[in-house]
Amino acid sequence: MQTIEMRFSRRHLFHLAAATTITAAPKRGMIIRSSRAEDLEMPLEGFLENYLTPIDRFFVRSHHFLPSIDMAAYRLTVNGKVTTPLTLSLDELKKLPRVELISVLECAGNGRGLYEPSMPGLQWTYGSVGNAKWAGVRLADVLKKAGLQPGAIEVLFDGADVPVGKQPEFQRGIPFNKAMDPNTLLAYEMNGEPLTKEHGAPIRVIVPGWAGDCWVKWVTRIEVRDTEFDGFFMKTGYRHPGKPVAPLSGVDPAQMKPVTTLAIKSLIASHVDGQDIAIAPTKLRGVAWSHESPVSIVEVSTDGGRTWRQARLGKDAARFGWRQWEYDWTPPQAAFYNVMVRAKNVAGDNQPMAQEWNPSGYGHNVVQQLHLNATATPKPPSAPAAEPTQEVPAVFKQTCLGCHGVEGIEQQRLNRTQWEREVEKMQRWGARVTPDNKDLLVDYLSKRYPYRPRK
Ligand code: HEC
Repeated sequence: MQTIEMRFSRRHLFHLAAATTITAAPKRGMIIRSSRAEDLEMPLEGFLENYLTPIDRFFVRSHHFLPSIDMAAYRLTVNGKVTTPLTLSLDELKKLPRVELISVLECAGNGRGLYEPSMPGLQWTYGSVGNAKWAGVRLADVLKKAGLQPGAIEVLFDGADVPVGKQPEFQRGIPFNKAMDPNTLLAYEMNGEPLTKEHGAPIRVIVPGWAGDCWVKWVTRIEVRDTEFDGFFMKTGYRHPGKPVAPLSGVDPAQMKPVTTLAIKSLIASHVDGQDIAIAPTKLRGVAWSHESPVSIVEVSTDGGRTWRQARLGKDAARFGWRQWEYDWTPPQAAFYNVMVRAKNVAGDNQPMAQEWNPSGYGHNVVQQLHLNATATPKPPSAPAAEPTQEVPAVFKQTCLGCHGVEGIEQQRLNRTQWEREVEKMQRWGARVTPDNKDLLVDYLSKRYPYRPRK
């Protein structure tokens, strides 16, 4: 159990591990964005394994610490603007018609680590996305069972996770119409297995085509509302200006809108930027996904975007799932090629050639470019050099490593002003920073983890 400044409320008092409690699943070679609370990114090779992303390869995003839920004691409450508030056990919920659906789940911040200039937040590159088969019940069936009162505009989900420090509870809502969509589910299975703890057991919300922040995990309460919820994760977190803004500008959250649909996106997963390849037939491979309108075409350019040719799409297709693609290519001569991929969907949406900037780094979907060095003597890609170990000031350890690990800190690329704001944010979330320590910390952080272009 976590001991750090946990705020206990009634709903956190689930009994500890009973025989029925789900255990944490193993994770294969995941990139650690934060070890505690756990944020794990799928490495590129994970995209190439299967049409459905294996569970132990599926990215994990946890704002808070995992809850311990006793399945026998678990109840889902449905209240708010309903005629008959409900308290359902898992078995009662499972009596509603079962629905299966394949859908991509992508973190709103996937690709944040690729933004220039960079911004604070987990530095995801490509792999905070996966494609799974979800099984559960329609949220609409649950809401109808509770009986709807007129005037509902939003459905709010409350998860049982335990906040870190003074960070507010994770509560996020979706508009009523999206909640009533027959594809919006309360899932209890992923790829034919009961949901694992990391992925939200016993129940998580599935909002196909929408970003992961709406896919609330460990759901214990659903509230039908006739007003917009104004908690932190609706009114401050997960908001986008809805238009490009000048890099590094701050935007008042009141001027932004909640993140909803995903952006269309495609990815080369078989190669990495700067890699050597032989002057011989090679296969470029990857995946492409979209939001509520499926991907219709994937195109590849091997000449910096002058000409484009269609890639072959994989046979597996589902409205909300991704498409695998491949493209056979023989570099005509030794050269340094600029290789790109782009997708279009049925609705005609496509990807931008330059990434527009937003303050929290959401919706990264620029056309990906890789430089491939075709040569008669290709060398295997080299592992990145290990960073030299450095002295860590005691004040940093004491002030900054109580609630979470160092990974989330050392992956940031921030200037002094951004670090100052970040330390102030941590103060709001409960870090004990004295005026003297603040300068020391900001100095240390901005020298040790300064802005630098991504390698
Ligand atoms: C009282 C608990 C607490 C302490 C102490 C703390 N943090 Fe955090 N930190 C948080 C929370 C909560 C998050 C966000 C977790 C999430 O939403 O995923 C976070 C996330 C972060 C992130 C990831 C980027 C982001 O903004 O989400 C960075 C960087 C960070 N903290 C830096 C620091 C530094 C530097 C210190 C020391 C000055 C510090 N933290 C001390 C609670 C704390």
